[in-house]
Amino acid sequence: MLSHLVPFVTVSALFMQRVSAWGALGHETVGYVAMQFLAPKALSFVQSSLGSDYDESLGPAAPWADDVRDEKGYTWSAPLHFVDAEDSPPSSCSVEQTRDCGDGQCILTAIANYTVRVAETSLSSSQRQEALKFLDHFLGDVGQPLHVEAYEVGANDIDAKCSGSSTNLHAAWDTGMLTKNVDANHGSEATTYASYLISQIQSGEFESLTSSWLSCTSITEPVSSRSEAPTIESDIGNLLASAKSSATITPLECPLVWARESNAFDCSVVFPFTEGSDACTGTYYSNAIPVIDLQLAKQGYRLAAWLNVIFDGSTNLP
Ligand SMILES: *[C@@H]1O[C@H](CO)[C@@H](O)[C@H](O)[C@H]1NC(C)=O
Ligand SMILES: [Zn+2]
Repeated sequence: MLSHLVPFVTVSALFMQRVSAWGALGHETVGYVAMQFLAPKALSFVQSSLGSDYDESLGPAAPWADDVRDEKGYTWSAPLHFVDAEDSPPSSCSVEQTRDCGDGQCILTAIANYTVRVAETSLSSSQRQEALKFLDHFLGDVGQPLHVEAYEVGANDIDAKCSGSSTNLHAAWDTGMLTKNVDANHGSEATTYASYLISQIQSGEFESLTSSWLSCTSITEPVSSRSEAPTIESDIGNLLASAKSSATITPLECPLVWARESNAFDCSVVFPFTEGSDACTGTYYSNAIPVIDLQLAKQGYRLAAWLNVIFDGSTNLP
């Protein structure tokens, strides 16, 4: 009953620190997808910044933020891996910057922070490498529906099975279902899986979707309620301009739209789940895999676009 003596927030923070997010396999996949679409200056920065420690690639560098989050010098970074959306799935899904990230310590503000820092030439090369590795990781996490959800501690508290083994629903989404699919269909390798997703982007089922992936058009907010639809270029442009003149970081619009997009899957696919049942078999699994493929491909493509705008001035993508 110890938990009743500890404030809920503390308990939930402890639980959140134990989870890993997409797992290394998912994060590496996002990084490898992004490598395919980098523009010249972004590619050159990535290669020289990451160097031989990371094979000059966003793939091997992507899991770093999970590897350090429990280390003494990096415990402050744990809340930056998610945003605790206080919505009510499966009946109502939403993400709100003020409600869900009021303290400014969540994945939305972290993406803004590390966008400014990676572009800031007055920082040291190790500080800029750190910023790049955080962006590489957080653009993956924001596509994981349970990293944009407070309900049941992002479903860490919902018991589940994966192919018979006991787990929780959050872990089943981070690693269980993904690993099963990559083992069965993509040679158990992030590089092979990434090549498959890249082929779907270039000339497969995702080809017709890529321009919408870059548009930052909200699925929940009517276009008429905004003065002008944000683009990745305007979002980053406004952020970098305001960072020059002020210490406070302007909230970004595109990552919020992306968070809402993944959070919507909490209502449609994630939480229609029978507690204790097996997520890695049957209809639940077959409905989840296309969502996981889509989210990893999309976030890899967006990561490339994001870095291209920072370093080359435009997305350089169709
Ligand atoms: C911004 O980055 C610095 C350096 O890593 C870090 O100390 C700070 O906590 C970050 N803030 C957010 C909101 O990401
Ligand atoms: Zn993470």
